[in-house]
Parts: sequence; C-alpha cells; structure tokens
Amino acid sequence: MKQLPTTTTGLTGNLTVPGDKSISHRALMFGAMANGTTKIAKILHSDDVTSTINALKAVGVKISEANGITEVVGKGVNNLNDPWGPINMGNSGTSTRLLTGLFTGANLAATIVGDASLSTRPMKRITRPLSEIGGTIISDDGHLPLQIKKSLLLPVIHQKLTVGSAQVKSAILLAGLAAGADTYVTDNFHSRNHTEQMLPKFGVEVDYKNDTIHIPAHQELQATEIEVPGDISSAAYWIVAGLITPNSELTIKNVGINPTRTGIITVLKKMGGNITIVPQETVGEPMADITVKTSQLHGIKIAGQIIPSLIDEIPIIALAATQADGQTVIADASELRVKETDRIKTVSDELNKLGAKIVPTTDGFIIDGKVSLRTDKIHVSGHTDHRIAMMLSIAALVTNGTIILDDDESVKISYPTFFNNLEGIV
Ligand code: S3P
Repeated sequence: MKQLPTTTTGLTGNLTVPGDKSISHRALMFGAMANGTTKIAKILHSDDVTSTINALKAVGVKISEANGITEVVGKGVNNLNDPWGPINMGNSGTSTRLLTGLFTGANLAATIVGDASLSTRPMKRITRPLSEIGGTIISDDGHLPLQIKKSLLLPVIHQKLTVGSAQVKSAILLAGLAAGADTYVTDNFHSRNHTEQMLPKFGVEVDYKNDTIHIPAHQELQATEIEVPGDISSAAYWIVAGLITPNSELTIKNVGINPTRTGIITVLKKMGGNITIVPQETVGEPMADITVKTSQLHGIKIAGQIIPSLIDEIPIIALAATQADGQTVIADASELRVKETDRIKTVSDELNKLGAKIVPTTDGFIIDGKVSLRTDKIHVSGHTDHRIAMMLSIAALVTNGTIILDDDESVKISYPTFFNNLEGIV
C-alpha cells in the first residue's frame, strides 16, 4: 500500500528506464541455446526476467552476473536437460509461451506452472500450433499447468498466426529452431520482431518473403554480446506524465525505438503531443532520447494495424485520453482482455473511480475528455497488474487528492525502480 505523490509544480529532469523486457527474455533464451558464453549488458532485473533465468537454470543452463554483465553459458540446442520438478513461471506470459516452444522443440519433458493471473491466461494459442507441428502438450483446457511431453517435430513447419501475438510467433520459431526444422511463420499482424531481429546476432540465418519469416533447418546458435536498450513500455509512463502534467519537460534517455514498438509515439504525436526523438549510437536495436513537454492533447481514433505496436501501452494511453479534449476511441484491442488482468475492465473501473468518463467496449474504450480527476481521498488498485499500478501512479500526478495505491508491489514484475524514478522527478 502506498500513498501516491501528486504534483502541481511540474515534472522536470532526465530519466533512464531499465532494460527492455522482451529483449532481456530473448537474450537469455538464445544465450542458453547457443554454443559459448553470451554476455548481456543492461538486462532488466525484474520478477518476469527472473522467471526466465530460473527456468533456464532448471534445464541446466548456468547464468551469472558480474560487474553489470549477465553471462549465459550456452548448452547448444541439443543439450538442455529435463527439469527435476515443475517450473514456476510466476506472472510471466512471455517466459511461459516462448519457453514452452523452446522446450517442445528441444524434445524435453517439463511441467510449467504459474501464479493466479498466469493460470487464467489462454495457452491454446501456443498448444494448438505446437501440437499441429508434432508437439504434445497437455493443458488444463488451455490453461496452466502445461505438461510438455517429449516429442519429435515435423521436419518442415508452416504456420500462419491467427492472433497478433509475438509470443505465439516466437514460440513457433523457437520450437522449429530447436528441433532443426525448416520453419516458416507468417505474421500479417506485424507483432514485435525482437526474435527475428536478434537471431542473426547469434549467427542464425533468417529470411523473409512478404510477411513470412523463414528459419532454414539445422542451424546452431553462436554466443554473442547483447546490449539491451531501455524499455519503451516503461518509458511510456514518463512520456504521458510529461505531456499531461502542467509545466513539465522530461527527457527519457536511451529508449529502444524498434518500429514494431513505437505505436505510442505515433498516436501521442497525432493527439498533439510535443515529443522530440533524438537517435543515439547503439550496437543493437535502434535507441533514442525522447523529450516530452506539456501539451494540450486532443482525442483521436486508435484502431487497426497499429494496435500490436502499442498493446502494452494502452492503459497509459487511456489515461492520456482522459486529459485530451474531445473523444478518444480505442478499438480492435480485445487482446487486452487476456493480459495480466482484463485491462479493458481494470483500466475503466479504476480510472472511472477517479472521475474519468470511460465506457468499456468489447474490444476497447470510448473515452471522453478532458476531465478533472478527483481530489478527495480514495483507494485504487492495479489488481496485481504492474501496468495498471504504474498507470494509476501517473494518474495521481494530475489530481491533488490523496490517492492510495493498494498493490504497489506489482511494479517488480517489469520495473522495480519505478517509484524511485517517480520520486526523482516530482
Ligand atoms: C511480448 C509480446 C506481447 C506483450 C508482452 C511481451 C513479447 O504479448 O504484450 O508484454 O515479449 O513477445 P503478445 O505477443 O501475446 O501480444
């Protein structure tokens, strides 16, 4: 439980956000699959990434940390061992789905469990394609626990995504890669592409034909060095905070700006946000410093192809919309219903408690602005969902009441230093 800071004088300063979560998971997994020792700089230290580290250790991979560098002693794709007992993935959907693909392709037998939230999340989206390509995974009607049985996959794999999910895409790619199959995955949704971008750094050939990704058969991964950029999903809180809080100017340093992740910048600029992007030197994915200044936003429609590129940022975009003139409509985002919480429900319930005017729809929201958020004492809850807790903490900045966040602990999932950074700018 935490009383959230409110401010009237404006937010100023520079911030550095922790490493990208999606990239951190993948660097660890590919390091584990490689021959040799992979060195990862600026990895995210958070509960979700710890779930991946512990799962990889359970299949025999050595991972250590010295002088800010994480070292993964790879075992090669064929030498991972069966874990002794169930692997607990905690809250992490990415660990669960990607590693289920990897373990299936690597011919392991493993049982995967997770926390209450993860246990409600749909897994048929991975068990179905993995079983179509020869895997055997027993689930509780599409939910955890998952029992991965030893299985030999087809030598040639063709899959087309039916849901715009990079987790599903990556699960199939990793299964095929681990099994040595000739693997084709079609992603018409253009979901985040960190898997395809990073594999060539490990020496893997990846080809493209239109929206189809092809990983040719029988490839080995070679250890490499990875530098993880700052997470744009974490920077998103400061981007919106700087735009909606009067008298503010914030710079967020070294943020990853992979185009499959920057939908939030596109929509906030379209809403009238004063946002400057200054590209920075990098050895990995593109990175930039992002400066935001207080702006009067206006409502727009956010729907269609852009949704996968801002899916995790929709809670904080919804907050921005409450402070924009006019109406914002967010549609085609039914994936929000199956995130760490049903984010269509948790965003509307909690922001409406604060006086927002948000109507939830089946696949998004209708948000009327500009509203003054309430000023008296109130308890809000992220319902154990890190992104809801952080969004509510930013909402408190544009109230001057007493806002108590009941579950501040959940920020440990993706951004353990969130409140330290918040205190540094208010
Ligand atoms: C992720 C993909 C997204 C995102 C999640 C991380 C990834 O999920 O919401 O936080 O690292 O691949 P989906 O791909 O299922 O949409």
